[in-house]
Amino acid sequence: MKNKSLISIHDYSKDDYFKILELADRFRKNSQEYENLLSGKVVATLFFEPSTRTRLSFESAVQRMGGRIIGFSDPGSSSVQKGESLKDTILTVAQYADLIVMRHPIEGSARWASEVSPVPIINAGDGANQHPTQCLLDLYTIKETQNTLENLTITFVGDLKYGRTVHSLIQAMSNFNPVFFLVSPESLKLPNEYKLLLDERNINYSEHKDLQEVIKQSDIVYVTRVQRERFSDPMEYEKVKNAYVLSASMLEGTKPNLKVLHPLPRVNEISTDVDDTQKAYYFQQALNGVFTRMAIMALMLGLKN
Ligand code: CP
Repeated sequence: MKNKSLISIHDYSKDDYFKILELADRFRKNSQEYENLLSGKVVATLFFEPSTRTRLSFESAVQRMGGRIIGFSDPGSSSVQKGESLKDTILTVAQYADLIVMRHPIEGSARWASEVSPVPIINAGDGANQHPTQCLLDLYTIKETQNTLENLTITFVGDLKYGRTVHSLIQAMSNFNPVFFLVSPESLKLPNEYKLLLDERNINYSEHKDLQEVIKQSDIVYVTRVQRERFSDPMEYEKVKNAYVLSASMLEGTKPNLKVLHPLPRVNEISTDVDDTQKAYYFQQALNGVFTRMAIMALMLGLKN
């Protein structure tokens, strides 16, 4: 992992996942493990798309590790506004930072940036494609709540077409003999390329319109937002925006170990009455992002092995 960019969850092996999860756990249990680890290091966060959790959890992680942060959360405040290319932006920021965390709306932009950058790039989300650090914190959270990653029944709900967190997590979890229930409107079904991967790996999955058909069999319900920003036709968004709203009453009779996860932000796909149940775990999931991202940066910069 040292000096290697993280662009897709495929860039890491199953062994790498466990290494990151174990180090994140050590960091969570003992702050002395990470304090001052990034002393003298500068991390750049370049966000060409809005973010709360990814950017701020990276920045919180860097600051807690004694490093420094530079960057922008609004490309309008950078020289991109003057027409600077992504290549020139990356080549310039790489002169100032040891590591670049980048979110960009165009699929493939992070891979492209990693090919020109002299410092490692972490993909913090590229369009509808990949969000590998979210995936690793999701794996951490699933293992934390279920004590295993193996043989789990995971229900994905909502936007499975454009949901990059879903794409990364389906790929990663397919290493652990899961059963997947894929619940979405017809227009937001999981793209074929991911289904082909599931077929190749002999993963048991089925597609559904109704969450109630599968919720009682689930260990994890992974809810996603229907993303207005991915639709070119606002009418198409209006048709599906409220397709699924999970409420506390729908959790009655579900498995005792069931946890509801969501990469957040939510709009109204999880009713706030779910927040008060034992099954809600999305804010703890957001906290896990800090320790998981600490572990990724420490391994990438060769500060832990
Ligand atoms: N989960 C996630 O990527 O959230 P943000 O868009 O707030 O970073």
